[in-house]
Amino acid sequence: DTHDPTSLRTPIVAVLGHVDHGKTSLLDKIRGSAVIEGEAGAITQHIGATAVPLDIISSIAGDLVDPDDFDLPGLLFIDTPGHHSFTTLRSRGGALADIAILVVDVNDGFQPQTLEALDILKRSQTPFIVAANKIDTVPGWDPNEDTPINDTYESQSERVRQRLDESLYEIIGNLSDEGFSADLYWRVQNFQRNVGVVPVSAMTGEGVPDLLTVMMGLSQRYMKEEMEIDVSGPGVGTVLEVKEEKGFGKTVDIVLYDGTIKEDDTIVVGGQNDPIVTEVRALLQPRPLAEIRTESRFENVDEVGAAAGIKVAAPELGDAMAGAPVRVVRDRDLDDVIEEVQAELASIAVDTAEEGVVVKADTLGSLEAMADALDEAEVPIVRAEVGDVAPRDISVASTAEDPKQQVILGFNVDVLSDAEHRAETDDVRIFTDEVIYQLVEEYDEYVEGIEQ
Ligand code: GTP
Ligand code: MG
Repeated sequence: DTHDPTSLRTPIVAVLGHVDHGKTSLLDKIRGSAVIEGEAGAITQHIGATAVPLDIISSIAGDLVDPDDFDLPGLLFIDTPGHHSFTTLRSRGGALADIAILVVDVNDGFQPQTLEALDILKRSQTPFIVAANKIDTVPGWDPNEDTPINDTYESQSERVRQRLDESLYEIIGNLSDEGFSADLYWRVQNFQRNVGVVPVSAMTGEGVPDLLTVMMGLSQRYMKEEMEIDVSGPGVGTVLEVKEEKGFGKTVDIVLYDGTIKEDDTIVVGGQNDPIVTEVRALLQPRPLAEIRTESRFENVDEVGAAAGIKVAAPELGDAMAGAPVRVVRDRDLDDVIEEVQAELASIAVDTAEEGVVVKADTLGSLEAMADALDEAEVPIVRAEVGDVAPRDISVASTAEDPKQQVILGFNVDVLSDAEHRAETDDVRIFTDEVIYQLVEEYDEYVEGIEQ
């Protein structure tokens, strides 16, 4: 074991933005560049995440990054599908991600999920930069594969530059409307006060060197202290997703942000009812791409250290909740660890009232964000739970006396078909959406309709 007792862990970078604005393509581009550099093996594919070590970042960034200037090991990028709220990415008392990249399509501009992401970045005080993506789609663009933005910008025609500038200033203006002072990244002196905008193309790789450079600089300068962890201590993480996996039963995909997790470790996981105490049967990573045709999509690993995305197979995980804490017990007292998990769950618990609407959400984090938004809109909540809309939710909603409260608000969840039928017969209205503020707006309009 070559671990130092304490050392710097990989910063966690969340990649977020509106559907189709290019989050996955951007990560694909970074992976692809490493393949071109002959370093494919150095990039490790995690569950829901990609780890890029510092030397790869510096070879992609070229002159822009000198690895000697940095002592962080690299970056762990978490891809968040547009339909899946970034609110899942919570950790004790805050955001799971240390920094974020908000991807905005230069032509499409700000969209509902862009605003939603911004709102959450604001609430969680997560430092972020904006990747103004798809610059290659500016009419007349002359691509220069994988070059820094300045080089490719200088080689464009006056007309093209003007068009790009207009789009970029619109994004900067939109950020300002949302209360963020922003500028093109090379004009930003203090990234804590100002949001840097980096023009990029996930297709041609233009600006990607700049993006990586800015991300490294940000994490190095502002987050080093938070990265100092006991790398071999008992692991702490967050459940991203609970998934049925053939041959393993219910598994949890987690992001480990502290310590290590090993096979046979006893872990405590936040559940729908009580904390779940169980033992790790297997730790699973995606197989390297070349081996994708083999029997299992996964390979077993004995141990992983933070920061990492990993699938954990263990008995009794059926009740686990997305967004809930995971803690390794190791040589500590089990009851203490259970208490820690309970305390963390209690800190996310939603205040409910005697009367109010029923709220369902896909994860604990999104439930928390929904509760905040409804609190601001002065809408009381009678019951708040993680999960799809089920018949028993209809029962609860149907007992409300006020028709404004015979309502279920579902964020990022499905409505089970028997629940749908029940809702019709019981006169319960169900609203579902994938954007929190839109869901609240829909409900407000409904209430106005009733009150008129
Ligand atoms: P979701 O995961 O569904 O939220 O989308 P996403 O943000 O991951 O977007 P994705 O990377 O899947 O890209 C959506 C589409 O945009 C794909 O067809 C990409 O090929 C295209 N695209 C992404 N980036 C660029 C870019 O820089 N230039 C061009 N021309 N197309 C791009
Ligand atoms: Mg995607």
